[in-house]
Amino acid sequence: MIDKALLEKIKKLKKERNAVILAHNYQIPEVQDMADFLGDSLGLSIKASKTKADIIVFCGVKFMAETAKIISPGKKVLIPEKDAGCPMADMITAEALIELKKKHPEAKVLSYVNTPAEVKAESDLLCTSANAVELVKKAFTPGDEIIFVPDKYLADYVSRETGRKFISWNGYCTAHVSILPEHVKEEKRLHPEAKVLVHPECTRPVIDLADEALSTEGMMKFAKKTSAKEMIIGTEPGIVYRLKKENPGKEFYAANASSVCRNMKKTTLNKVIRSLEIMQYEIILSDDIIRRAKKSIEGMLKFR
Ligand code: 13P
Ligand code: SF4
Repeated sequence: MIDKALLEKIKKLKKERNAVILAHNYQIPEVQDMADFLGDSLGLSIKASKTKADIIVFCGVKFMAETAKIISPGKKVLIPEKDAGCPMADMITAEALIELKKKHPEAKVLSYVNTPAEVKAESDLLCTSANAVELVKKAFTPGDEIIFVPDKYLADYVSRETGRKFISWNGYCTAHVSILPEHVKEEKRLHPEAKVLVHPECTRPVIDLADEALSTEGMMKFAKKTSAKEMIIGTEPGIVYRLKKENPGKEFYAANASSVCRNMKKTTLNKVIRSLEIMQYEIILSDDIIRRAKKSIEGMLKFR
């Protein structure tokens, strides 16, 4: 049950601070319900680039809030929970990428948005799960050597979709790799009519069982459009709340209800209030990192 008093408090603080609240689709239901805008990494980046608010409160994980700061350096960007990191993003560092670039001096670097700001600053172009395939088709020529970090499963998926080979990194999402083919097969046995939607961070055997591989917002759009009445969802299960809420006539089943991203669940309404009250935790990045990372993000946003 949503706490009306907390919601009123957030509304008042938001107005006083001229703040906007962005939330990722994996956030807990209360946070989803309170946010001004819900979306995937790409949608949230676009929103951050367009908002007129002075303050962005980012309910998600650190790389997302950093992306908002890089896009809007003149704004104050707050993350209500300082320990909301992304284990996959932390599997690559700028130092490691610099070493890899030395081994492949001709290669261009395509980084998944799930990376620290310092890695973005060392990259030529960014992508999200929503645009990776299109971007690789449009932004690179067939002779290009491409380093793709950090998600080896997304790299594998994009490689299969585009026919391009990548120098990839050994990164992966701890939540998505816990969705196993057996989980999908069992849900398919229980719901034989259901369409299977999975995130491209899933492993190849899971993607091979799916009807569609989509970003989280891609799943939202597909669920709305399709005539299918049942869907098995192969991603972090937090999105099932929104899918059900926005599609009351349809049924959604998490492929693995335990494949939870713990960091995405750390943000609560009380932490959002605290964040707005005392302006914590502010994302601070150096001008140099912002300037260099911005180029790779703007390169991506141009390809819409
Ligand atoms: P989306 O961009 O598809 O929302 O994915 C973000 C993410 O962290 C997936 O694990
Ligand atoms: Fe990172 Fe995976 Fe969590 Fe997404 S779901 S934030 S990729 S750990």
